[in-house]
Amino acid sequence: MNNENKPAKVVVVGCGYVGLTAAACLAELGHVVIGVENDVDRVVLLTQGKAPFFEPGLDDLVASGLAAGRLSFTSDLTTAVTDVDVVLISVPTPSLGDGAADLTIVESVVASLATALPPGSVVALKSTVPIGTSAQVVSWLGRDDVEVVANPEFLQAGQAVNAFRHPDRVVVGASTKEAADQVAALYAGLDAPVVITDPRSAELIKYASNTYLALRLSFVNTVATLCEQGGGDATTVLAGMGLDHRIGPAFLQPGPGWGGSCFPKDTSALAAVIRQVGADDTLLEAALSANQQRLQQIVQVAAGAVGGSLKGKKVAVLGLTFKAGTDDLRGSPSLTIIEGLINAGAEVAGYDPMISNSVPGVQKEETALAAAQGAEVVMVLTEWPEFATLDLVALAETMSGHQVIDTRGLLNKESCQAAGLVLWQVGKG
Ligand code: UDX
Repeated sequence: MNNENKPAKVVVVGCGYVGLTAAACLAELGHVVIGVENDVDRVVLLTQGKAPFFEPGLDDLVASGLAAGRLSFTSDLTTAVTDVDVVLISVPTPSLGDGAADLTIVESVVASLATALPPGSVVALKSTVPIGTSAQVVSWLGRDDVEVVANPEFLQAGQAVNAFRHPDRVVVGASTKEAADQVAALYAGLDAPVVITDPRSAELIKYASNTYLALRLSFVNTVATLCEQGGGDATTVLAGMGLDHRIGPAFLQPGPGWGGSCFPKDTSALAAVIRQVGADDTLLEAALSANQQRLQQIVQVAAGAVGGSLKGKKVAVLGLTFKAGTDDLRGSPSLTIIEGLINAGAEVAGYDPMISNSVPGVQKEETALAAAQGAEVVMVLTEWPEFATLDLVALAETMSGHQVIDTRGLLNKESCQAAGLVLWQVGKG
């Protein structure tokens, strides 16, 4: 992959999933990139070519960027931006209690940039920020000679590098054509449509996309519940829907409820902004509430499998991360379901191939079979491929009961029956 344009000097502030992926991929595109990270231990790790979290392909990309001399890391923001062309801000914007996003970290980064940026440089916001934040950053920055651009990121955990290299679109929201072109040029080596718009619309594209996908999944899981409780096969129903080109086949997989670091936060934040302008957020609140109900309903499925009460029953939970391919526990449906199980009096053992630390209230085990030992119910909550090839005979032997709840559609009913297990399948009546 080669950048046909002149390489830019880029500083990426915040080396989390979004920032580090952008830093390593922009270096791969030929730009000279400095990743700035507050956490000094993280800088040491990054300088050794190691990503501080699991993301397929990212370690290698960081190492090759370092080796090529195009990627480096520091904690010193002021020195890093001395002769920068574009600063990408990708620091966390956590949810406040009311659902709005907390911009404290963005504000403090901008305060440092205000006195340090060279004239003619551009600040691009990659963090998911509320509508209007780009305008807010312009006033925090207080510089006429520096443009502020919204450049939202759409990466999915577990496929961040691939998604950066092959994006569906690049979105640039700028007040001037020059600033828009300068940021769009960073991505010139990628084969993707570029949407150039005003900052507010760019911010809104990100929120509206994530919220639409969350709404879609709440609907998908409503169809799943309908089939589970009333009959029918949601997988076939949803596949049949997906053949309509206006609907499309992606993001139609039913599950235990949706989660992650983005969907819950972004849907709540967009609802808060909608309320702020006096508009009706009913649709978004319904999607959030349907998701909470879905998570609690999965707890009820576990209770139903053991005759109605989970008190004193051992439940094995397979999968703790919010989806497969990541070590991210933020907003994980598993954690909410575990809380529900514990509140109902269950003893919970858990296993996840990517999580070594224990989770509150969970007896953490090193294998799926160890977690299942003596369990009355086994619940598959994350779609890790290894759960699709579980040794079902060994599972049946080690459990004290024989109920298996598959919320991800990984297991086969006949194979479970042959092993003496009773399988509850997501989306099937
Ligand atoms: C999401 C957006 O997809 C991405 O564009 C944005 O930048 C960040 O938020 P991510 O949080 O990595 O990415 O997760 P994603 O793969 O979108 O999954 C989110 C949740 O939806 C997970 O809980 C996942 O299990 C669930 N999901 C996804 C389903 O239940 N069914 C599906 O068909 C797809």
